[in-house]
Amino acid sequence: MKAIQFNSYGDAEKLNLVDVPAPMPQSGEILIRVAAADVNPIDWKIRSGLMEGMIPVDFPAGMGGDAAGTVIALGEGVAGVAVGDSVFGVGRSTYAEEAVLTSWAPVPEGVSVEESAGWGAAVETAVRVLDQLGLSAGQTVLISGASGGVGTAVVQIAVGRGISVVGTASAPNQDYLASLGATPVVYGDGLAARVAAAAPSGVDGALHISGDGVLPELIEIVGDPSRVLSISDFAALELGAQVSAAASDHRKAWAEAAALPAFRLPVERRFTLAEAGAAQEHSAAGHAAGKTVILP
Ligand SMILES: NC(=O)c1ccc[n+]([C@@H]2O[C@H](COP(=O)([O-])OP(=O)(O)OC[C@H]3O[C@@H](n4cnc5c(N)ncnc54)[C@H](OP(=O)(O)O)[C@@H]3O)[C@@H](O)[C@H]2O)c1
Repeated sequence: MKAIQFNSYGDAEKLNLVDVPAPMPQSGEILIRVAAADVNPIDWKIRSGLMEGMIPVDFPAGMGGDAAGTVIALGEGVAGVAVGDSVFGVGRSTYAEEAVLTSWAPVPEGVSVEESAGWGAAVETAVRVLDQLGLSAGQTVLISGASGGVGTAVVQIAVGRGISVVGTASAPNQDYLASLGATPVVYGDGLAARVAAAAPSGVDGALHISGDGVLPELIEIVGDPSRVLSISDFAALELGAQVSAAASDHRKAWAEAAALPAFRLPVERRFTLAEAGAAQEHSAAGHAAGKTVILP
């Protein structure tokens, strides 16, 4: 089968389209024929070597963690899913024609298989960070970087919980953000004044998804560093803010999103397997509104 591998850390040209034997699902795992593999920032961060200290790889290494497709084999002890079922989930080396999933769920009703490929890490992260911040209905959260993959999921989950959202995005993504249920504001100089106008009673917490150097301003806006949480800048700890990195309960998170009738993670760009490098460069540019997928 065709798959993407890389033999050393570096830029997108390190990604090679190769022929490899199909993987075997181990105990508790399933094998799928991949219909769509999601492209997450963590993918190009791993490829570039940025994550070497936290997530080292053995070369040649596969690429990708999220995918959706059709079940073609079950590992030992797997129950509740059958060959032929359409599923999405998280696993390993998902930029490939076939991939192993370690956690999965049926493709939600009304969601395309392609779109569900983006649910894996984004939805789990969204639910995890809202749980960790501990906000409840009636409160307000400020989200920096609210229009991307994780942001799109967090905004909808928060609104579904009755939490008001003020979200930041670039000018072209303001309408998109509003369509998700957030009050949109543009990021950049003067953020505090725009947030104050959007949330005159103040905000109860802030999520830092994206935005280099904005953490001190988020802390000032909230008024308490312990109510600010970053998923992309672990130096937040030095400022007294929280960070979150370890995945929690995927299935519980996916079920919460699936229970929201209008929940969507729109696919913004599609690439072929041979275009995996271009797909990662698109993700690394950092301005996706929704998800980027690879269709093998
Ligand atoms: N720790 C964890 O568990 C975890 C889990 C998942 C992701 N992450 C990290 O979270 C980050 C975002 O992931 P993602 O999948 O949402 O990425 P993404 O889909 O590429 O979205 C990036 C978002 O950042 C926004 N952005 C760009 N420049 C900005 C700025 N100066 N200020 C504020 N926002 C800005 C973009 O908005 P515009 O397009 O409007 O500019 C876009 O919506 C990545 O660093 C990723 O590695 C961490």
